[in-house]
Amino acid sequence: MKVLILGSGGREHAFAFKLAESNKITQLFVAPGNAGTQELAINLDINPTDFEAVKKAVLENAIEMVVVGPEAPLVAGIHDFFLADATLNHIPVIGPKKDGALLEGSKDFSKKFMQKHGIPTAKYQSFTNETLENGFKFLETLQPPFVLKADGLAAGKGVLILHSLAEAKAELKEMLTNQKFGEASSTVVIEEFLKGIELSVFVLTDGKSYKILPSAKDYKRIGEGDAGLNTGGMGAISPVPFADEDFINKVEELVVKPTIAGLQKDGIDYRGFIFIGLMNDAGNPSVVEYNVRMGDPETEVVIPRIESDLFELFEGVAHQTLHEKSFQVSSKTATTVMLVSGGYPDEYEKNKEIVGFENVENSIVFHAGTTLKNGKVVSNGGRVMAITSFGNTMEEALEKSYKSIDKICFEKMYFRKDIGFDLK
Ligand code: AMP
Ligand code: GLY
Repeated sequence: MKVLILGSGGREHAFAFKLAESNKITQLFVAPGNAGTQELAINLDINPTDFEAVKKAVLENAIEMVVVGPEAPLVAGIHDFFLADATLNHIPVIGPKKDGALLEGSKDFSKKFMQKHGIPTAKYQSFTNETLENGFKFLETLQPPFVLKADGLAAGKGVLILHSLAEAKAELKEMLTNQKFGEASSTVVIEEFLKGIELSVFVLTDGKSYKILPSAKDYKRIGEGDAGLNTGGMGAISPVPFADEDFINKVEELVVKPTIAGLQKDGIDYRGFIFIGLMNDAGNPSVVEYNVRMGDPETEVVIPRIESDLFELFEGVAHQTLHEKSFQVSSKTATTVMLVSGGYPDEYEKNKEIVGFENVENSIVFHAGTTLKNGKVVSNGGRVMAITSFGNTMEEALEKSYKSIDKICFEKMYFRKDIGFDLK
């Protein structure tokens, strides 16, 4: 089997790392990939949202399955594109079609979906520029902090949490009238603030049955103690200690089952990952968001804990035989710590040579924003590498990750030293 993974981050390196273990795969391709995926696969210099270029590469290389890492190609309809093309429609795509991808592509759609199917989530209303005054009135009925969400994809920046009513009103106007996030904020969801502690649960589905994958918690803020700007994610832990069997059972009954059943009822044939962002408020789960892909860096802890052949699960998704498949999960804790470019998530420099990662022995080095330049591995993004380790405890795994990081260096390298701080 020849498999193509779309994307270029740590998530895609983790997929490649895991799929490379499968004896059913003869050749892996990653588009565009990074310096890490290049060790395991053939990197193709293609933008995953350039569907014609993806088609050409798939046909030229006789690719037999496509695994989509990021949301953008899914929301843009890559799966639909494959189905509509007679030369591609026999090739399974792991990732939903446009209708399912709306769970991430439109906050308004996902809130309506949850409300319709009785899935616990924060109370909300949606507004456009025409209904701005009603938005102000709705804000007045809520208690601070206020949560404003651009409806569309806004590169992870579309959610604002504001502490005063005046600020919330001003930002609502910025989003709706002045198009703060462009087209993405032409509709804004205003919702109740949820208390509790966040975690993520990942589901793989073939549209009929599903598997619940290990849970994870990520650390989104740039600064220690969860301070400062939001990032793509600075580290992750799996499993989440407070997500015990009872809690996961509740999530399955209250969220996963109605989500899968809701997709079926609405005629959405969903084949791929569902990333459920949850708030746990005193043991009660409430959905913060859906994503239609795996998380990054959550993948770098969730996927290495899966001991079985991931490709077999993907085959189950492709042929709707997921119910026949089983998989084992390591009982160990996995931790990952992200190394980022100084300045990220604001401006940062690229092309910094990364040294020492070859000497890491007790961790897995997942490349994120890296590339090869004149035979050297250099930084090529804000998030540069994720250092994953296993341990009998979270503390043991974290100690390994941090010891491995001591060996790695690039100019202005930054990382959080407190991943897992709230779980100790
Ligand atoms: P989202 O893109 O919807 O996941 O929002 C980004 C982040 O904002 C989440 O990971 C939460 O930390 C926070 N957030 C979003 N919605 C809420 C809410 N209703 N209550 C509290 N925090 C929220
Ligand atoms: N780490 C959060 C995300 O992938 O959206």
